[in-house]
Amino acid sequence: MALYVIGDLHLSFGTDKPMEVFGPHWENHAEKLRAGFETVREEDTTVVCGDISWGMNLAEAREDFLFLHSLPGRKIILKGNHDYWWTTAANGMRFLAENGIDSIVFLNNNCLFYGAVALCGTRGWSCDPDGSEQDRKLLRRELMRLETSLKAAGEREKLVFLHYPPKLLTCEWTEAIDLLCAYGVRNCWYGHLHGPGCAQAFEGEYRNVRFRLVSADHVQFIPQKILR
Ligand SMILES: [Fe+2]
Ligand SMILES: [Fe+2]
Repeated sequence: MALYVIGDLHLSFGTDKPMEVFGPHWENHAEKLRAGFETVREEDTTVVCGDISWGMNLAEAREDFLFLHSLPGRKIILKGNHDYWWTTAANGMRFLAENGIDSIVFLNNNCLFYGAVALCGTRGWSCDPDGSEQDRKLLRRELMRLETSLKAAGEREKLVFLHYPPKLLTCEWTEAIDLLCAYGVRNCWYGHLHGPGCAQAFEGEYRNVRFRLVSADHVQFIPQKILR
């Protein structure tokens, strides 16, 4: 049994959204993902850190979910800024059940478990200090969601997954990092950054938390093993 993580699959089976426009490394990226999942087994779990499907609604995202379902193991997904199909987790769960998709679960205002370890997280938002009042409002709401998730974990060891980077080279979401420290979190994975944007990523240890970027193109479309 192993735990993996990857972000930003940006699947587009049901929409006309060729990813090659973002660089030649995105060519045939679904096939690259399938190859990347070859080492993942049915008993394993993979956390997917948002930006899953370009579908604008669940009907458009259906083929992408079926593709994800066809990959081995349990997939725990959280919301990214491009997941427009996401209305409520309840709607999503109903849709998955109706389509016989039983290998995907939502990490949303809750925490899930991998053995004795709690998997916590939320989407997050941009930490740009020049953001608008609306951005600050979204950050406050996301902070509450992160705390709800951490609280749900109780005393267990907590791993945190976000879509947005909580820390870049140039700015940070201090309140979220404070929360990670308060809850004794030592590891945080995130996505959202792509291509040249990855140069903005902070990867390494800061305030006793280890941060890593796992957007699909940044990790060559290979899920990263984080626990056995
Ligand atoms: Fe993305
Ligand atoms: Fe994103």
